[in-house]
Amino acid sequence: MKKIKSSAIVILGATGDLARRKLIPALVQLYEIGEIDSSCILIGSGRKNIDDGNFRKKFEIKNELSQIFYYHQGIKGLKKYIASKGEFNRIIIFLALPPQVYKNTIAEIYKEGFRDEAGIVIEKPFGHDYNSAKKLNKYINRFYDDSQVYRIDHYLGKEPVQNILVFRFANFLFSNIWSKHYIDSIQINGFEKIGVKDRGAYFDNAGIIRDMVQNHLVQLLCLLTMDTPVSLDPEEIRIQKMNILKTLKVVSCQRFQYEGYIDESDIKEGSQTETFADIELKIDNHRWYGVPIYIRTGKALARKGTEIGVTFKSLPKILYNSEGKVNPNRIVFKIQPSEGISVDLANKVPGNKIQIDNTNMSFRYKDSFTEDIPDAYQKLLFDILHRDKTLFVSGKETELSWKVFDSILDNGDVKKYKKGTVPCPRFCEEWIDFESYRSICQERE
Ligand code: BG6
Repeated sequence: MKKIKSSAIVILGATGDLARRKLIPALVQLYEIGEIDSSCILIGSGRKNIDDGNFRKKFEIKNELSQIFYYHQGIKGLKKYIASKGEFNRIIIFLALPPQVYKNTIAEIYKEGFRDEAGIVIEKPFGHDYNSAKKLNKYINRFYDDSQVYRIDHYLGKEPVQNILVFRFANFLFSNIWSKHYIDSIQINGFEKIGVKDRGAYFDNAGIIRDMVQNHLVQLLCLLTMDTPVSLDPEEIRIQKMNILKTLKVVSCQRFQYEGYIDESDIKEGSQTETFADIELKIDNHRWYGVPIYIRTGKALARKGTEIGVTFKSLPKILYNSEGKVNPNRIVFKIQPSEGISVDLANKVPGNKIQIDNTNMSFRYKDSFTEDIPDAYQKLLFDILHRDKTLFVSGKETELSWKVFDSILDNGDVKKYKKGTVPCPRFCEEWIDFESYRSICQERE
């Protein structure tokens, strides 16, 4: 792959949290591994008046990198400023800003004179529901074609998420059994131990369905269930994902809120915002018809973990399963922590008698590879620089996804749960044997 040449990368909101925690470290890393060279420039931009020296100091930028690392106040004059630094084929503009200002900022960028050379990067949330997402997309497309817009869902940049398609389509073993004929149910968990902390103002307006389900977890589901694309062309993959979104339906939804949530800062009095959701879905297409899909996600839970479980059908009650005690096979994709994949299998316990036990074969990145797992933002920035849109969400995709969940947003009772527990009783009965993961998780946490 060619190295990136002659690009100007601008971060609007450069002194904010996202830039500080994710974007600038990812760019520094790309420079250090030689993916960005000195024919590029990195410009932080914000409302504050800071000089280059202080900006570099803030991010501890030293050596050669400081020669291409600048600060510019605001958007006005940015085009001229970039031109004063040289000629660039491409200008990438990252809006590390609150979503409420996306519209005005995009209009301002356009007014400043950035046209076909510009790549506009925005981060979720893309709208608040179906209608607002549609309006936002329409507005953006008044100025920039969708091919120039990179919508980040950082889950797609996670290494184990990228591996879902590889696992499915590079292992012949699974290709014929990936359907309702062999698979009994699909479950996706997105669990966090921490509560809303200092993000109350944002979260209270969103809730966990908007925050995690409509984007991150549904993207996992699309990758897991989509049909085989005819090629790895980003558009082909997107078409297959959209076919899932078009047939995905909510069967039921239960919403929960942790006790003490309303006492957190910036939460509206009597708030009915959900911090945990337990949703059953179905995909009405030939491949998945009749297979229940469960998505469960929330904050202030017993443990942290994102995983996808694919449970196969039970054996008939004959031979080794005459007493119905052999567990069905199960594949668990551990997205985080302890990234890897585990396949639950039945095996004979050593000894003179026939006794069957449930065991698992597992692959863990930590054990199989010496390479570090790159941060999701590093991978996504790398792809933006290479104009690869595979891991980005299109405007149409976000609209289709909102459409699936519109009817359950802010709708129905909200039950309470104690912090540090998991409110959904089904979780214990039906879901994966988490015990086998617990020790691994603790080891990593
Ligand atoms: C963000 C949500 O998009 O994803 C947060 O707004 C959530 O509420 C976070 O905590 C989870 O991301 P990760 O990478 O920590 O699983």
